Amino acid sequence: MKTSKPVVLYVDDLKEQLTNFSANFFDVYKVHTANTTQEAREILKQHPVNVILSDYTLVEAGEITNGVDFFESIMATYPNPIRMLITGQGDKEVAVNAINKGRVFRYIEKPVDDEELKLIIDGAAALFFAEERYRQLLATLEDKVKERTARLIELNAEKNEFLGIVAHDLKNPLANVKMFTDLMHREVETLSKDEIKEYTGDVLSETDRMFTLITNLLDVNKIERGFKANPIKFDIVSLTEAIVDNYRSRAEQKSLTLHFEAKAPKAEIHADEVASMQVVENIVSNAVKYSPNGVNKNIWVRVVPTSTAVRVEVQDEGPGLSDADKEKLFGHFARLSAQPTGGEHSTGLGLSIVKKMIEAMNGKIWVESEIGKGATFIVEFPIA
Ligand SMILES: Nc1ncnc2c1ncn2[C@@H]1O[C@H](COP(=O)(O)OP(=O)(O)O)[C@@H](O)[C@H]1O
Ligand SMILES: [Mg+2]
Repeated sequence: MKTSKPVVLYVDDLKEQLTNFSANFFDVYKVHTANTTQEAREILKQHPVNVILSDYTLVEAGEITNGVDFFESIMATYPNPIRMLITGQGDKEVAVNAINKGRVFRYIEKPVDDEELKLIIDGAAALFFAEERYRQLLATLEDKVKERTARLIELNAEKNEFLGIVAHDLKNPLANVKMFTDLMHREVETLSKDEIKEYTGDVLSETDRMFTLITNLLDVNKIERGFKANPIKFDIVSLTEAIVDNYRSRAEQKSLTLHFEAKAPKAEIHADEVASMQVVENIVSNAVKYSPNGVNKNIWVRVVPTSTAVRVEVQDEGPGLSDADKEKLFGHFARLSAQPTGGEHSTGLGLSIVKKMIEAMNGKIWVESEIGKGATFIVEFPIA
């Protein structure tokens, strides 16, 4: 691998030393020289320096400063270059002290020959590049940690919202159950059988509502912990027909006619049978739930095999979905424009569960609808 030349800054108050250094090393390093600490700072501002060498004794405009103080003054702004001090015989102690305080990496005692100096600078440059790789790695890791933390915060907020809705959705039916039982408890002597029947009926309906919600929540939980489909080969025509038959009387109560059409007597798919049933049942039950009550509408359920998949389509003549509805349709607690028309309950969780299940089986679900013009839900199962 070809690496670019290390960038070396040499600081010395003796111009001659600088000229020599440049002449000796220009072909192996990108050399910058500075006659004063001021000049050195300018260079640091403009160039990415890897290694800095500074003479210990620096005489500037009659004042005596030193390399250690210079290093100290640039450390906060330029912490990354490897700093090395060039010392005369008498400066060894200051140099060792500076090493201990972390201001310089090492000192080089004068006199030093070029070959030795080159080895030292090469070592320092190698250290710089190793540290640089490490810094980059660290930065990437930090970015990743930041990203994940942000995601976790988002998920936690979602969970809190979820919990809030659940608590809210359980509170109303529970309050009703409490109210009806309280009433019966107090008035037990005076209530007629009909009244008791009515109130216990209400209690049953409210407990049903809570039961549905909790069943949905357990499904959501199961899916979020990682739903594993158990795919087998089975006939989706007979399964769909059985679901349709099961909903026929409920549909009739709302004057809805359920039609079942299969383009083939049999259509084998490769999917989880229980999950497939839940998927089809959900879209059939939605069509019955959201179609207008008592005005003789139709629902068509079709099984359509294609060359690569089998589709189950449920078409209704209900209120349909707006564009805003469609965006939220498969999210949690999506209770949209359409509302149940026969006193059914709605958690808004059904389709979110269905979507995850069908995707876990490598299938697809989508809707085709215009507001006011009915809706067609289409589920596609992989072929066996
Ligand atoms: N066939 C449909 N026609 C019109 N709107 C529908 C239909 N199916 C579902 N929706 C809308 O989508 C929402 C989400 O449906 P779903 O997730 O099954 O929950 P749920 O049926 O418990 O409310 C429903 O509340 C309803 O507003
Ligand atoms: Mg539903």
